[in-house]
Amino acid sequence: ACGSSKDDNKSGSSSDLNLISSGTLTVCSDVPYPPFEDFDKSAPSGFKGFDVDVVSKIADALKVKLVIKDSDFDPLQSGLLLTTKKCDLGASAMTITDERKKHLLFSDGYYDSKQSLLVPADSSIKSIADLAGKKVGVQKGTTGETYTTEHAPDAKRIQFKDDGTMYLALKAGTIDAILQDLPVNLDHQNDPKEPGKFKVVETYNTDEEYGFAAAKDNTALIDAVNKALADMKADGTYQSIYDTYFAV
Ligand code: ARG
Repeated sequence: ACGSSKDDNKSGSSSDLNLISSGTLTVCSDVPYPPFEDFDKSAPSGFKGFDVDVVSKIADALKVKLVIKDSDFDPLQSGLLLTTKKCDLGASAMTITDERKKHLLFSDGYYDSKQSLLVPADSSIKSIADLAGKKVGVQKGTTGETYTTEHAPDAKRIQFKDDGTMYLALKAGTIDAILQDLPVNLDHQNDPKEPGKFKVVETYNTDEEYGFAAAKDNTALIDAVNKALADMKADGTYQSIYDTYFAV
């Protein structure tokens, strides 16, 4: 509704942010990836999760509307969706890596993560060494895929577009394991619909940190995101969102 009104106020005017649609922060996220992003028919945005909550507070701080677009992860991490202006920001549990920094601009880190191995509770697979000859699900373009290539070279890597189809394959028994970010594998381990069915048998300290990503030239947006993040951390908003999803 305020899209056509001119706003010349210097600090925090959304017109300074180079948004693809003025007054709206368009965010690409690869859904589902619980607990970071998931579908939620009852939510106004259609989505829920840790990233969704953090990014909606960021949109509030930037005084813009938030629109989330479900997107494939691989073209998001490669920079394609951002450089072709499908969205302003990637919010997708995306690890900040040197490789990605070549074509993306990252915000400050907002979540620490690591890799992990999920298997059926009755599986004979107890560690990464047992993966030789086994079918391991990995998501295309992710750090979990890279980790598997490097540390389980004799496994049969089965590549999935998203975690939703990958988890379905594990439930159907067409793959033997999933190697990916620990919080997501823990979410599956604790799936109330599959009690006791799956187990995280190993974790790998890869020292990953998630960041929000923008096109390489969009410094104004990343600066604003970093300021909003810092304010959220200082005033307790970040912690309360964190506790909603990760309290023990
Ligand atoms: N953190 C991992 C990476 O950056 C996986 C992220 C996948 N995110 C998603 N929403 N599917 O490669």
